[in-house]
Amino acid sequence: MNDEVILSVRNLKIHFDTEEGEVKAIENVNYDLRKNETLGIVGETGSGKSVSAYAVMGLIPQPPGRILGGEIIFKEKDLLKVKKDEMRKIRGNEIAMIFQEPMTSLNPVFTIEEQMLDILRAHGFSKKDARLKSIEALEKVKMPDPKLVLKKYPHELSGGMRQRVMIAMALSCEPSLLIADEPTTALDVTVQAQILKLLKRMQEEYNMSVLLITHDLGVVAQNCDSIAVMYAGNIVEYGSAEQIFERGMHPYTKGLLKAIPPLEEKTEKLNVIPGVVPNLIYPPQGCRFHPRCGRATRGKCDVEIPTLEEIKDDPGHKLACFNPYGG
Ligand SMILES: Nc1ncnc2c1ncn2[C@@H]1O[C@H](COP(=O)(O)OP(=O)(O)OP(=O)(O)O)[C@@H](O)[C@H]1O
Ligand code: SF4
Ligand SMILES: [Mg+2]
Repeated sequence: MNDEVILSVRNLKIHFDTEEGEVKAIENVNYDLRKNETLGIVGETGSGKSVSAYAVMGLIPQPPGRILGGEIIFKEKDLLKVKKDEMRKIRGNEIAMIFQEPMTSLNPVFTIEEQMLDILRAHGFSKKDARLKSIEALEKVKMPDPKLVLKKYPHELSGGMRQRVMIAMALSCEPSLLIADEPTTALDVTVQAQILKLLKRMQEEYNMSVLLITHDLGVVAQNCDSIAVMYAGNIVEYGSAEQIFERGMHPYTKGLLKAIPPLEEKTEKLNVIPGVVPNLIYPPQGCRFHPRCGRATRGKCDVEIPTLEEIKDDPGHKLACFNPYGG
């Protein structure tokens, strides 16, 4: 792996104004993504994974969103400061995103060909070249019979095929950063594994960095170099896959690790973490995890906010907790 950091998110803070009150969605998010690295962002629903990804894409709706602080440094530029036009260019050429349910990002009234050609034409390809390039892109994602697929409408394809189309579209402009927001959640287990394998292969072939967002620690286990564990708007633990899986110390990380179902077992999760993600209009004081945490201490965890700091004897492994396991 190359050590060059291509994306550095620093002290990101984003709130949303709603009728019910101010949703304090992202409180303090910090991570680095290196060239050719896959970073997994893991956390339960509502922890702020998608909002932090949309921020990198410059797609936070303002209003109701308000970016209250932080920096998103991509190739030495702060994306929070670039003009809309420039951001649009970066989004088309250098950063691409694939979404959870491809049906919502594919237009149902146009064929796959029309949609793929649109993107490539916008990148300056002639119609003929765009068509050739579309076929090539579909072949790359191992789509059976690309020429036939081009003639189809999105609803005529299976979920897995639609996601392959999305990946082909995202890769057609050869981005250096790919954000995959729950790319396999809508798919069944076998197709899920195929798509993840495909993403890994594409990452290697295109020398991309990948931000892989998921609520499933099992998914990041096989696919990520580094992992950021997110809870209620904060990164609570961050490290290499080995550091998180072998030496994870945050009580929330520990809970997620316990909740991974044993291999081959499709039963309901047995060890889900008790309690629910807090209402982010009125987040708990102190550590936002304290109402659910078995290690919380009164007068400390419910008052002070733990900050993400590197663990002394484990370079690169960062933790935000006053009473970690093994600490
Ligand atoms: N446009 C918006 N207006 C108001 N609140 C929003 C908006 N977008 C996101 N939020 C809030 O921000 C918080 C984080 O949402 P986000 O979608 O990032 O969660 P997530 O971790 O991606 O969850 P999931 O796993 O369900 O996709 C949630 O409380 C959500 O309700
Ligand atoms: S800071 Fe306290 S409440 Fe928060 S995770 Fe650590 S022990 Fe639990
Ligand atoms: Mg999400």
